[in-house]
Amino acid sequence: MMNPGIRTRIFVSVLLFSCASVIAADVFIENSMVPFLDTEGVAALRRALLIWTIAAVCAAAAASWLIARWVSRPFHSLGSSLAETHDRLREERDLLQGVLNGMREGVLLVGSDDRVRVANPALRDMLLLSADVAGKPVHEVIKDVTFLVVFERAKAGEVNLMSEIDVGDLKPRHLLVNAAPLPDACGGVLAVFVDMTAMRRLETVRRDFVANVSHELRTPVASIRSAAETLRDAVGRDPEAALEFAAMIERNAERVTRLIDDLLDLSRIESREFALNLEAIEPGPAIDHVLKIYKSRAEERGIALRAEVPDGTPPAKADRRALEQVLCNLVENAIKYSPEGASVTVRADSAGGMIRISVQDTGPGIEARHIPRLFERFYRADAGRSREVGGTGLGLSIVKHLVEAMNGRVEVESVPGRGSAFSFSLPAA
Ligand SMILES: Nc1ncnc2c1ncn2[C@@H]1O[C@H](COP(=O)(O)OP(=O)(O)OP(=O)(O)O)[C@@H](O)[C@H]1O
Ligand SMILES: [Mg+2]
Repeated sequence: MMNPGIRTRIFVSVLLFSCASVIAADVFIENSMVPFLDTEGVAALRRALLIWTIAAVCAAAAASWLIARWVSRPFHSLGSSLAETHDRLREERDLLQGVLNGMREGVLLVGSDDRVRVANPALRDMLLLSADVAGKPVHEVIKDVTFLVVFERAKAGEVNLMSEIDVGDLKPRHLLVNAAPLPDACGGVLAVFVDMTAMRRLETVRRDFVANVSHELRTPVASIRSAAETLRDAVGRDPEAALEFAAMIERNAERVTRLIDDLLDLSRIESREFALNLEAIEPGPAIDHVLKIYKSRAEERGIALRAEVPDGTPPAKADRRALEQVLCNLVENAIKYSPEGASVTVRADSAGGMIRISVQDTGPGIEARHIPRLFERFYRADAGRSREVGGTGLGLSIVKHLVEAMNGRVEVESVPGRGSAFSFSLPAA
């Protein structure tokens, strides 16, 4: 758009020029025409000049205004298209920024001078980089040798480069890097990082699980096999020994069955196939029912079983089968791991809208270092003792899954040499 000051200046110049011309013409008429014209003739000439001048000034003003408008039109459209381009560029920049900020993948853009141009928040989080990383040499920002090799190859023009790197001492991460050169016009390298840490962890869990299951199966199956071989020789020759080997086969087959049942339970709970029917359940009768199941086993070992449920304890919102299974696993552990003459007490109380049930024993207790891992599948605090009593290390894992499926949480308190208390809380019905 043409500057309004320029328009005014053109207009004033035309006006001044016209006025100066009138004055000059008037002076010329006055000085040069007097000898040739009488006074009236001079006056008429001056009048004509004045009218002509006024008309000329008006025409000049109109013409200058039109010219100024015509001249300013291209400037005006140039100005508005510049503003539009500016707005569009800003929109595109904001959009790109939004995409980069919202991405879970890390994005690194390195210029042809090997300096970082862009490092999005996800990448800064993965590599623990500060916000002012832009402008720094890439070799200083990411020191991982594997990445730098990939970067150099991408810079040399190789496409579809992929590699895996391990980074971070404080927060170790396993990252998949994909790097490619940018088109010649821009130069530099674009690298995208995908965090594979969680996936790696899952792979490890799955591998460990398969290894654990195989290991757990191998021992009883090996026992069954050797007992069966010996039994074959003993049949007819030594009926008493044959009976003993048959009993051994039975015991180990039972162990395998229990392991398979536990695994199936866990997988059903984890895949939410284990349909829970949450209803109001009185803790007192549920506890009594479970203690009855374990009465004879406790008596065999001289262990006292007690229930302490204050009158008026409100019902819990639970699935009857799941609640009984949780109680069975905890009471069984308490009896199994406690020495003869110990006591096991099951208590219930309510606080803050939750019903808390605890199974306390006066057994050997558990060292603090085992506590955080007790609810993991196959974890045993005392592997030897656990195997000896036929444990598979899955009981507490099932307890945790079932309690959480009923919207509750589990806790352990234990003092080595003094005993343990496993408790769980469920919402009141
Ligand atoms: N009351 C307890 N006192 C001492 N140690 C316990 C007690 N309860 C559990 N533990 C320890 O925790 C480990 C894990 O218990 P968990 O019930 O998961 O497995 P398990 O009893 O070995 O086998 P499973 O219950 O599957 O037959 C046990 O091996 C044992 O070392
Ligand atoms: Mg157990």
